[in-house]
Amino acid sequence: MNVAVIGTGYVGLVAGACFADSGNSVWCVDKDLSKLDRLRAGELPIYEPGLDQIVERSIRSERLKFTTSIAQAVTSAEIVFIAVGTPPGEKGLPDVRDVKTVALEIGKHLTSYTIIVNKSTMPVGFHQAVAQWIGENAQAAFDVVSNPEFLREGSAVEDFVKPDRVVIGTEKESVYQKLCELYSPFVLQGNPIIKMDPVSAELTKYACNAFLAARISFMNELSQLCEAFGGDIEEVREGMSTDFRIGKHFLYAGAGYGGSCFPKDVKALIGIAQTRGVELLIPQATETINARQKQLLARKVKAHFGGDLKGKTFAFWGLSFKPNTDDMREAPSLEIARELLDAGARVKAYDPVAHSAAKSVLDARVEYCQSIYQASEGADAALLITEWNEFRQPDWKRVQSCLKQKVLFDGRNIYSPEVIKAMGFKYFGIGRRLSDAL
Ligand SMILES: NC(=O)c1ccc[n+]([C@@H]2O[C@H](COP(=O)([O-])OP(=O)(O)OC[C@H]3O[C@@H](n4cnc5c(N)ncnc54)[C@H](O)[C@@H]3O)[C@@H](O)[C@H]2O)c1
Repeated sequence: MNVAVIGTGYVGLVAGACFADSGNSVWCVDKDLSKLDRLRAGELPIYEPGLDQIVERSIRSERLKFTTSIAQAVTSAEIVFIAVGTPPGEKGLPDVRDVKTVALEIGKHLTSYTIIVNKSTMPVGFHQAVAQWIGENAQAAFDVVSNPEFLREGSAVEDFVKPDRVVIGTEKESVYQKLCELYSPFVLQGNPIIKMDPVSAELTKYACNAFLAARISFMNELSQLCEAFGGDIEEVREGMSTDFRIGKHFLYAGAGYGGSCFPKDVKALIGIAQTRGVELLIPQATETINARQKQLLARKVKAHFGGDLKGKTFAFWGLSFKPNTDDMREAPSLEIARELLDAGARVKAYDPVAHSAAKSVLDARVEYCQSIYQASEGADAALLITEWNEFRQPDWKRVQSCLKQKVLFDGRNIYSPEVIKAMGFKYFGIGRRLSDAL
């Protein structure tokens, strides 16, 4: 099939490469020429495990091509995906200006019947706006479908090629069948391709992210109760997650959620509901708790060291919003760094892949290091902020010899307080019974 994907970011590049890898001819379009030049030269502009081989293979077979021209990509395409960004806009609603620009441009270049697929996360009901924008210029017939994307950064390829389900929001059986054909290589194990109306498809995307974010915020709130009563959130989590009705995922208390999806989509759902006079209390609480949680680690540091942090140095272990990605959007590290720096501290940070992404958004006073050991050299405390695998079993003897004071703030509860304290550290986790007193 001839496919065009407009927007070559975390979603568009993964989708384009995976469609090409299953035999389709794919044009990936982006307005950012430097991004495309890097791709053509075999260099990925984002960090995503496993994606480099697929992109390299697809470019070599000439099934995957890159262009800045929507015209070039759309004229030959049977299916066009819109995968441009929809960042937070006014009143929490997503900013759809890039989608509008692209939709208007697509309309100008349709030469025959084409299916246009919304993969960007759009406000509920916006499939109609997209159809209207395309229709303003279109000389050929088209259908607009809502096909929300559920991939997770860090395991995006795996999620894309083995999705739990694919959601297709369309009223037309022929459109659904065409997309079933395109997605068929990814659902060989029988995972469903669910047909629903476009509004329900758009709502499903927000519902999933808001629900997962609510689970995290619920655990973060409970962790405070654990601290108040002397319980341990990790034991509570184990007791909960073994209940099959609850399950294991997204039940980890920590330094707050970030990324390009949860914060934006929770805000958007609240804003979208308000446009119809509906008040959504759970998403509102989810967001409030998360905002509070992102300040927690800095608050704990100040409670231990005192509010004035002049002369104190802190080692950040990890910067990205979660492991296996370089994405810094809404990462808790941004706020923690700013709080500590504003209180007079020095911050030295190490992340396995996010330094380059961090440099454009993180406070410029942060110093970048080549390892957690270098970051910990002369530091008064280490703060585990992102649970990268390589931080799980560091050389503790080396860590101890680097740190000025043996103090560890475990922002993701990945360490055993007993083990850490037995080495002579002061340990501060999130809702852990054996945390030292603040
Ligand atoms: N990142 C995720 O994990 C994820 C998961 C599911 C859904 N989504 C949704 O998918 C959409 C894309 O997200 P992303 O993370 O891939 O965004 P991104 O910012 O990584 O990529 C968007 C790309 O679109 C390009 N673009 C913008 N305007 C353009 C135009 N007029 N013409 C051509 N290219 C243009 C940008 O240059 C950029 O490369 C968003 O709506 C997001 O909410 C993201």
